[in-house]
Amino acid sequence: MIEKIQALKAEISKLAASTPEEAEQLRIKYLSKKGAVSALFNDFRSVAADQKRQVGVLLNELKTLATEKIASLKESMAAGADDALASIDITRTAVPKPFGTRHPLSLVKNEINSIFSRVGFTVAEGPEIEDDWHVFSSLNFPPDHPARDMQDTFFISREPSDVLLRTHTSSVQTRVMEKTQPPIRIICPGRVFRNEAVSARAHCFFHQVEGLYIDKNVSFADLKQVLLYFAREMFGPDTRIRLRPSYFPFTEPSAEMDISCHICGGKGCALCKGTGWVEILGCGMVDPNVLEACGIDPNEYSGYAFGMGVERIANLKYRVNDLRLFSENDLRFLHQFDAAH
Ligand code: PHE
Repeated sequence: MIEKIQALKAEISKLAASTPEEAEQLRIKYLSKKGAVSALFNDFRSVAADQKRQVGVLLNELKTLATEKIASLKESMAAGADDALASIDITRTAVPKPFGTRHPLSLVKNEINSIFSRVGFTVAEGPEIEDDWHVFSSLNFPPDHPARDMQDTFFISREPSDVLLRTHTSSVQTRVMEKTQPPIRIICPGRVFRNEAVSARAHCFFHQVEGLYIDKNVSFADLKQVLLYFAREMFGPDTRIRLRPSYFPFTEPSAEMDISCHICGGKGCALCKGTGWVEILGCGMVDPNVLEACGIDPNEYSGYAFGMGVERIANLKYRVNDLRLFSENDLRFLHQFDAAH
């Protein structure tokens, strides 16, 4: 018994701990009810009567030693934590984290959204992975019609559901028309995909904002007025517009819209290739076939639609001449738009 006590004393006086958790483990190991020191106390009963006095004293010494040792370990741990805190200057300014900036396409998209929201349009969104019906068939592209070639499409699967990546956000317009009766006044911003070779002027994905207004008695004059308002808000109050006849399966009549060149004011320069005009969007009156396909009565309602590329507007606004810059994540490019807003 006496040897056991001496051995434990030697063991305890050498204890060390490097974390508060370790110190607590030691307390449990030696001083808890089932700990090593308590176990010796339990054995006290079997000590011979003539040794009881000596062993009793030793046991008490052992318990005091263990209690003090572990308390001091815990204390030094707490002091250590204080020391660590004292050596940190918590008043020092943090290392500055460089702020990101908004992407130029987000800036332009937000501006388009806000221009149209001021005249009552709300934003609608839809899936990028679409089916044939929402991207083509509902929009008056008959199967195998050559108009489908205007939009080179990434097909994900042909059977059974004709899954594809949307080539325009007109698919969102279809989805809204299917669910809602007029009046409908929405813009559909989003990413679209076309199977084009990547170059300075084309990319396999880009962004659009398309607009749709359907109500009773909506006319081409309404379309023209809202587009003039948009052009002036976006490119300045002196901007003029012109509409050239064009073709889209889902609009009739259809037009392309040009704005007077905002660089030369219409006199002719390199940007407008000497013409004084630059093309910015496609538009037209929604074809009655489209309304019908989406469950809207074409005898009661009419509407207009338009669609523009966000990259195209950004190129014109910021004079970016290579589309690839928008998706290369080069900070030297992106940081140039800090000051723009
Ligand atoms: N959806 C057409 C495109 O992506 C753009 C458009 C929209 C044209 C609405 C006319 C009306 O090419």
